[in-house]
Amino acid sequence: MPEWQRLFGESAPQVEVRWWDDAGVDPAAVRYVLVWDPEPGRLAGLPNLRVIFGSGAGVDFITSDPELPKQVPLMRMATPGATQRMGEFVCWAALSLLKNARRIGANQAARKWDYFEPEFTAPETTVGVMGLGNMGRRAAEMLLGLGFPVIGWSRGRKDLPGLVSYAGDAERDVFLARARLLVCLLPSTPETRGIIAQPLIAKLPRGAGLVNVGRGSHQKIEDILAALDSGQLSGAVLDVFEQEPLPPEHPAWAHPGILVTPHLASLPSRRERAQYIARGIALHESGAPLPNLYDHVRGY
Ligand code: NDP
Ligand code: OXD
Repeated sequence: MPEWQRLFGESAPQVEVRWWDDAGVDPAAVRYVLVWDPEPGRLAGLPNLRVIFGSGAGVDFITSDPELPKQVPLMRMATPGATQRMGEFVCWAALSLLKNARRIGANQAARKWDYFEPEFTAPETTVGVMGLGNMGRRAAEMLLGLGFPVIGWSRGRKDLPGLVSYAGDAERDVFLARARLLVCLLPSTPETRGIIAQPLIAKLPRGAGLVNVGRGSHQKIEDILAALDSGQLSGAVLDVFEQEPLPPEHPAWAHPGILVTPHLASLPSRRERAQYIARGIALHESGAPLPNLYDHVRGY
């Protein structure tokens, strides 16, 4: 809390910042909240709330609250630092799959000098990015910079330099058939939950790589494990899981084809989040529209 108070002090000194569980806070006095996964019902108990600020780009852990006050605007996090970090993570994951970093790491742990030649270069590996929003667009730009051909899939068609854009369910299979490396940067919605499962994986070129930085709810992990064992997938970087933290006994930890990372692909710094929220508060108080609002009909 002292750090948050200091950071808000820099960008919004007029705002009094209090801890979520501070028993001395009068619920009627709370105007703004910054939350990631609030206990269901807590937000409904704040009668004078003006804006809910999501601490992440995905707000599914907030919107899953059945008592969420839907009339209160919910603003999602979208800072340049967050998109840059995501772009860096996706590039690292793509290169790790290309160079087989999992095998290199295992060999080093075993002190084994196992010379091998990675099969493909970046220009030979088309990357398909599912989700071309704030995160997906930056990841695509940075992948292009590394020499990967990049294609993208989203609900609406995009005009992004250097990228071939596929749109909607009708173009999904054509997109998948070209993606030698698939990156998931979709939000978790009723349409996208469970999307990374056998039927989708079967449409990828044999030996494709997978990077899931969306949500654990997007993937059926048993289908991913089966596809890795059969060779339909050659490797996967999984940053998100249905159950987080991933339990120690989970087979993903030990699978030779999977790099597990603990949901760390992208989180903006606290300073950046404080600045972003300070700007949101200023916009709201001046009556200006808020950017990057969650849309209850769209589901993201
Ligand atoms: P945005 O809302 O900016 O972008 C979402 C993208 O997904 C849009 O391009 C949208 O299409 C597309 N989309 C949504 N539904 C569908 C669908 N049914 N079919 C095809 N495309 C669809 O979100 P962000 O880019 O900010 O974030 C995306 C997600 O990344 C977050 O929701 C979160 O789950 C995850 N994330 C994970 C992090 C991590 O550390 N692992 C960090 C940050 C985010 P259109 O453009 O046409 O609307
Ligand atoms: C996010 C995340 O959605 O960190 O921002 O997962």
